[in-house]
Amino acid sequence: MTEFQDEMKTAAEAARVGGECLRQYFHRGVEIRDKSVTGGKSYDLVSDADIESERLIAEVLHTAFPAHAILGEESLQQGDADADHLWIIDPLDGTNNFAHRIEHFAVSVGYYEHGRAVVGAVYQPLHDDLYTAVRGQGAFRNGQRVHASTTDRLGQAMIGCGFYYDRGAMMRSTLAAIDECFSHDIHGIRRFGTASLDLCMVGCGQLDAFFEYNLSAWDFAAAALFVEEAGGQVTDACGNELPIGSTSVVASNGRLHEQVVGITTRHLPDPHPT
Ligand code: IPD
Ligand code: CA
Ligand code: CA
Repeated sequence: MTEFQDEMKTAAEAARVGGECLRQYFHRGVEIRDKSVTGGKSYDLVSDADIESERLIAEVLHTAFPAHAILGEESLQQGDADADHLWIIDPLDGTNNFAHRIEHFAVSVGYYEHGRAVVGAVYQPLHDDLYTAVRGQGAFRNGQRVHASTTDRLGQAMIGCGFYYDRGAMMRSTLAAIDECFSHDIHGIRRFGTASLDLCMVGCGQLDAFFEYNLSAWDFAAAALFVEEAGGQVTDACGNELPIGSTSVVASNGRLHEQVVGITTRHLPDPHPT
C-alpha cells in the first residue's frame, strides 16, 4: 500500500469538515473580534468561525490518531512542536478576507513525522477546491496532478507576497522588495491575503514565486509541501530550510528561487523576525 494514505485521507476529511464550518459561518455572518492590538490599532482578527473550525478539525484528527500531537493557531498553540507525530492546523487562513466578505480563505492541515512534513491538505470551501500532497507522491488539485511553472526569467514572472500584521520595519522591507521586483519588469505583484492558497498557487503554476517576511508554521505546514511536490522550492528569505515555527518564507518554481531570495535577502527587516 502507498505510504501515508490513512494520514492523507484524514487530512482531507479534517480540512473539509473545517471548511464546511467556515462556509456556514460565512453565509450566516459572524462577529469578528480583534486578537491583538498594535500601537492602538488592531489588524489580527478572530471569530467563532476560527475557533469552531479548529475544534472540529482537532476532533477528526484525534479520533483517527489519538496519540498524535496537534498544534493549531487558536486554542491549540501549546501543542508540542517537537512531537514525532504532529498535526499543524490553521482552521481559517485568510481571516481578514473572511471578515471583509472576500471569498478567498482556506483551511490548512499539515502532518509532520519526525520533524518533516509528509502530508498536506488545503481546502478552499467556497470553491470546493482541495489541494493535497504526500511526500514523494506529487501535488494534486481536486485529484489532478499539478506542477510549478517553468519560467526562469523574472521579466516574465507573476509574484505573490504577503504582509504580516506589522506596519513597521517588516512592511517597509516588503514594499522595498516589491519595488526591486518591479525593477526587473516582472509581469505583476499579487497580494491575495491567504498564505496557504498563495503557496498552492505557486504549486499550480499560477504564481511563479511568493514571499512573506513573517509566517507561522500553521500558514505553510501543508502548502510548503504542496509546492515542493509540484516541483517548486521553499526556503526562508535567506535560502535556508524552514523551521517549524515563525519564519520568513520564499516559495518559487525552483528556477527563479536564487533570484527571488537575492531580493528578499537584500531587504531583510531589521530586526529580522525569528
Ligand atoms: C494570515 C494570512 C495572510 C498573511 C498573514 C497570515 P490568518 O493568516 O495567511 O495572507 O499575510 O501573515 O497571518 O491570520 O488569516 O490566519
Ligand atoms: Ca494563517
Ligand atoms: Ca488563521
